[in-house]
Amino acid sequence: MSKLVSGALSLAFLVLPMSAVAQQLEVSLIEQGEELYRKQCAVCHQDSGVGNPPTFPALSGNDQLEDSGRVIRSIHLGRGRMPPFPNLTAEEVLSIASYIRNTWANDFGGVTTEEVTAAREGLDSSGPVGSVWDGVITEAQATRGQVAYSGACGSCHGRRLNGAPDDPDMRSTPPLARARFMRIWEGRSLATLFEYTRASMPEDNPDSLGDQEYVDIIAYMLTVGGMPNGDTELSPDSQSLAQILIQPEP
Ligand code: HEC
Ligand code: HEC
Repeated sequence: MSKLVSGALSLAFLVLPMSAVAQQLEVSLIEQGEELYRKQCAVCHQDSGVGNPPTFPALSGNDQLEDSGRVIRSIHLGRGRMPPFPNLTAEEVLSIASYIRNTWANDFGGVTTEEVTAAREGLDSSGPVGSVWDGVITEAQATRGQVAYSGACGSCHGRRLNGAPDDPDMRSTPPLARARFMRIWEGRSLATLFEYTRASMPEDNPDSLGDQEYVDIIAYMLTVGGMPNGDTELSPDSQSLAQILIQPEP
């Protein structure tokens, strides 16, 4: 992000004929887009853009990316089971859209600030975004989640959520709480965690629990990670989960 000079300045350059300065700025825009893509999108669509079809579609060679307005709206609002990203700024969306439309097998051309503004017009722009440390779960929800976790996840991810399976003959899996989990998931929203998890877990039987069970399990994961309880439960709804970011302890 720091590589981008003031947004307005760099974007103005982009629509002018390419000068050396403009080329430089475009390179930094694409680099910013790549970095954001790897953090926010690659968990489902992969670094190489091949996705994991049919669960997560490929973006490389995907003709839907021709329509830049559609791409921008998909990022902002989500689409089907893709989570929304209401907290990304117009500039961040511009950089991600520019990156995915012009990398891998894609050559769909640049995106302008005007296109981003037009596509986002009338859309709710981000209200205040909260964090997992704001008391977004309840004890009762985490307790339900623990029961569901033991039945559906513990055999692979371990009773302590540390990735050591209960059965020593089974391969280890990623941890679902604490430092290593936080390092990977930091900066993403609970909507990404929810949609990724329900679409792909349990690995041997994805999408086999109810939405309420998935979100209860997430509440349990947060509890094990030390996050505090509050008065309201997490609801199994991507639009509201997208407002809660996974962040290090303040
Ligand atoms: C939790 C998994 C997940 C994450 C994270 C994710 N996506 Fe998706 N994405 C999906 C799924 C699922 C679809 C298919 C949606 C549908 O058509 O129902 C999709 C579809 C798309 C499409 C095609 C939409 C269309 O026009 O048909 C684009 C473009 C896209 N994603 C871009 C992104 C970008 C950019 C990011 C990061 C900002 C991102 N996705 C993050 C799961 C994800
Ligand atoms: C059969 C074994 C198995 C079961 C059961 C299982 N998982 Fe997984 N899980 C895996 C494996 C293997 C991975 C790594 C997948 C990869 O990297 O592509 C994984 C990855 C994950 C991740 C991503 C972690 C990261 O940082 O990359 C989450 C979140 C997750 N599982 C949650 C769950 C939840 C919640 C359940 C129960 C509903 C569950 N898993 C059940 C095997 C399992």
